[in-house]
Amino acid sequence: MTAPMSPQDTWKQRAGSAAADLIEEGMVVGLGTGSTAAYLVRALAQRIQQGLQIKGAVASSLATYEMANNLNIPMTDLDDYPELDIYIDGADEIDPQLRLIKGAGGALLREKILASAARRFVVIADSSKKVTQLGHRYPLPVEIIPLAKTPIALQISRLGAQIQIRHNNNIPFITDNHNYILDCTFPQGIGDPAQLDAQLHNIVGVVETGLFIHMVSQVIIGGPEGVQVFP
Ligand code: 5RP
Repeated sequence: MTAPMSPQDTWKQRAGSAAADLIEEGMVVGLGTGSTAAYLVRALAQRIQQGLQIKGAVASSLATYEMANNLNIPMTDLDDYPELDIYIDGADEIDPQLRLIKGAGGALLREKILASAARRFVVIADSSKKVTQLGHRYPLPVEIIPLAKTPIALQISRLGAQIQIRHNNNIPFITDNHNYILDCTFPQGIGDPAQLDAQLHNIVGVVETGLFIHMVSQVIIGGPEGVQVFP
């Protein structure tokens, strides 16, 4: 017997299924990472089983690759298709200007590469991910070169953040790109995400940040009443 889905999972599934319906014949599709993206992957696999033909899908993480491949979604990569027709992924926080914090699942670098290679970036989430200001609920993940962790943490702390090196089972979490993640908490929230993103990119050894600014085409929010689409 399968356990009943929580309301939040139902909302994620609604958003994932609505986004899968945006995928058309012959498209190259980028697949995000996380529990909401997993509903998209399942819905896309079902559409393919029913006859939809896509050129291929590019995964934003090894975990998503494995899941999609196991569900018989034809997989490809950015060397074969350097431009994606659509990239669909979840988010940790979404502000009213459709700026995001991403990376709680640790896949932010590949996610940002796929988002920037896509003609259209569609975000899927349940309604709990909407915030008035970024940084209040989730720390900002920053992917870094491991040997520079201490000087980078010092410099980011001077920007007002409290820093934790992400761990998994008491050892540092290693990304798919063999880097570390610093989870950076800004106690006052993030007032100017674009400025903070630029400051972080100025620190040598920072590979990428979880701030996604001016990248989003559309947000699909699943909630108790169904789905809402922004803008
Ligand atoms: C992974 C991500 C995810 O998209 C984000 O964490 C949302 O995950 P979920 O859908 O499980 O809430 O950025 O790096």
